[in-house]
Amino acid sequence: MERKNVKTRKQSWAEPYKIKMVELLKMTTPAQRQKAIREAGYNTFLLKSEDVYIDLLTDSGTSAMSDRQWAGLMLGDEAYAGSRNFYHLEDAVKRRYGYKYVIPTHQGRGAENLISKSLIKPGHIIPGNMYFTTTRLHQELAGGTFADVIIDDAHDPESDFPFKGNIDLNKVKALIAKHGAAKIPYICVATTVNMAGGQPISLTNLKALRKLTLPYGIKIILDMTRVAENAWFIKEREKGYANKNIAEIVLEICSLTDGATMSAKKDCLVNIGGFLALNDESIYQEASNLVVVYEGLHTYGGLAGRDMEAMAIGIEESLQDEHMKARIGQVVYLGEQLLRCDVPIVQPIGGHGIFIDALRFLPQLKQDQFPAQALAAELYLDSGVRSMERGIVSAGRDSKTGKNNYPALELVRLTIPRRVYTQAHMDVIAESVERVYRNRSKIKGLNMVFEPKYLRFFQARFTKSV
Ligand code: F0G
Repeated sequence: MERKNVKTRKQSWAEPYKIKMVELLKMTTPAQRQKAIREAGYNTFLLKSEDVYIDLLTDSGTSAMSDRQWAGLMLGDEAYAGSRNFYHLEDAVKRRYGYKYVIPTHQGRGAENLISKSLIKPGHIIPGNMYFTTTRLHQELAGGTFADVIIDDAHDPESDFPFKGNIDLNKVKALIAKHGAAKIPYICVATTVNMAGGQPISLTNLKALRKLTLPYGIKIILDMTRVAENAWFIKEREKGYANKNIAEIVLEICSLTDGATMSAKKDCLVNIGGFLALNDESIYQEASNLVVVYEGLHTYGGLAGRDMEAMAIGIEESLQDEHMKARIGQVVYLGEQLLRCDVPIVQPIGGHGIFIDALRFLPQLKQDQFPAQALAAELYLDSGVRSMERGIVSAGRDSKTGKNNYPALELVRLTIPRRVYTQAHMDVIAESVERVYRNRSKIKGLNMVFEPKYLRFFQARFTKSV
């Protein structure tokens, strides 16, 4: 038989794993969801997970571990000091990320605390490619001031620039000219940039930043929470990297930096864990002394031996090209469905989730009426899908003036846990978002009735405007 159009035939991908165990989900009724979200003060962080059908609150600590990781848990060496699992973790960090020293921490913010306390003095400026909530707060608590040096495109949800996580070198130069290099201990570079919509930084940009800052002695500390996902975008989009694998690109990214904080709850496919990695011995000495105060001994940092074993195995699995192809492929699959229904989302589609542009979705609401928070509550009401606000509530208040920050991006994040949901779940999510979009004109804003001092988005409470 003649074979036609062989070249144009669809080439599907599939998950590079099969399912060995399942966790049953609870379905809820609209009345149950009404009650649950009201009791949660219209804050999806305050919902009970039992009341959630598909949980897209975060990709943090929500991954499905592999059978090898579960087996690794059984190999936990729960000694107080010098656990075998610490040395496995240290070996993985050295080989895969190239750093000389590693200090385990209970999660990413533990590492942020250590590096902030070790390097920041009152009056210091810490430039970064957009803020992350916990990272910025630790910098401020150490006496520093965060300065956003991400390119302007990152603040524009409609810009389709392929590397919206890039740093604007002119903004860095201006900070050096204004404050002097001595006031800038390091630049915090995130891969991928969470608050911008999971957007990657290019290696060209990182290399140029290194060239600019090295003569001034300004260090680069990587927030490597999603570094493997960033590497995927470099492979896909950056000239000269198509034939490199994720592991090689990750190693190259790390080689351009002096150290890194890692929330292993993302890339590394574990439910808890993190670390601080460093090349400089004296900073390592300082941080490994501090870790004893805040986390635990420097060979466990608040983790059980078994957690470090699962992390060491997760690091290897996270760097497999096939894993990343399916991981990002699933996010793109959901995003493309929403685009087909004209739902406004941040473009290009990012690494760890779909970010809905709440300002375009709900043009009837002012930012003070918390459009993203209101939209996240509506989506839960529609289908039991839990998402997260990443807008004015998350942005908090200016640490000096106490006034609300008004971020350019007012987003609802549909964060996709790794290896957890199927394409059928993605279809259900897309249909729910589309339904809410069709009824968007009826959606009202919220009033904040309780506001915690730190990281208010976690625990703030709201009522519905009438
Ligand atoms: N850096 C980035 C880029 C993050 O996304 C997170 C956590 C952290 C640091 C802090 O790590 O949670 O382990 O202490 N992000 C989660 C999220 C909470 O939902 O985006 P952690």
